[in-house]
Amino acid sequence: MTAPLLTVAGVHRTFGSGPAAVHALDDISFEVEPGTMVALVGRSGSGKTTLLNVIGGLDRPDAGSVTVDGVDVTGLDEDGLSRLRREKVSYVFQTFGLIPVLSAAENVGVPLRLARAEAAERERRVELLLELVGLADHARQRPGELSGGQQQRVAIARALAASPRLLIADEPTGQLDAETGLAVMALLRGIVESEGVTALVSTHDPVMMALADRVIQIADGHLLP
Ligand SMILES: Nc1ncnc2c1ncn2[C@@H]1O[C@H](COP(=O)(O)OP(=O)(O)OP(=O)(O)O)[C@@H](O)[C@H]1O
Ligand SMILES: [Mg+2]
Repeated sequence: MTAPLLTVAGVHRTFGSGPAAVHALDDISFEVEPGTMVALVGRSGSGKTTLLNVIGGLDRPDAGSVTVDGVDVTGLDEDGLSRLRREKVSYVFQTFGLIPVLSAAENVGVPLRLARAEAAERERRVELLLELVGLADHARQRPGELSGGQQQRVAIARALAASPRLLIADEPTGQLDAETGLAVMALLRGIVESEGVTALVSTHDPVMMALADRVIQIADGHLLP
């Protein structure tokens, strides 16, 4: 058996204290094999975003540990977390999170600049990624000049730029109509295969779940068996 790409062990996250405390994550444990696409499913308020943020190092658990590609995320300081997000884990957000004044190509190139990739190599990689997400002809357009689905495809290309091991997507199709959402999800599915990346994607949509290798269900901070 190959080593898991992601290990979540006994993770707790509580917001607030006393009678008002919300146990957003209550003893969450699971492993994910490399190269798989996992759908994280649960009702609003079930803890999906909290879990994804803890895994991606955007938030810290109160107890338990998260290991990504051999790195103990929970033990990292700020510098370590920055490096993790530069090198191993990348995010796709529901609201795309593109930089409005930059073109599609420049947005995709941001992680490569942070990684100090050489200009020619950066251009090559950006071109390849825009091709991969079907936007080669839109490289010069700014986010405001692109449709929602196109913006999300740019965000996916950007998330892949620095060749992460783990792609985290929090309801990446939440702002898109059903058909466009499905196209974006199918694109993610293809990318997991072609780039050998591991993806953890939260969604409400049963159609999206069908595209995943595995579905993890969360309810009130607990995983369902
Ligand atoms: N920063 C915070 N402070 C206090 N409570 C929080 C905070 N973040 C999340 N919560 C609470 O934790 C629980 C889980 O929230 P979370 O955002 O993880 O749910 P979700 O499954 O992502 O929901 P949605 O599908 O609506 O995005 C909720 O009860 C929420 O109110
Ligand atoms: Mg959420």
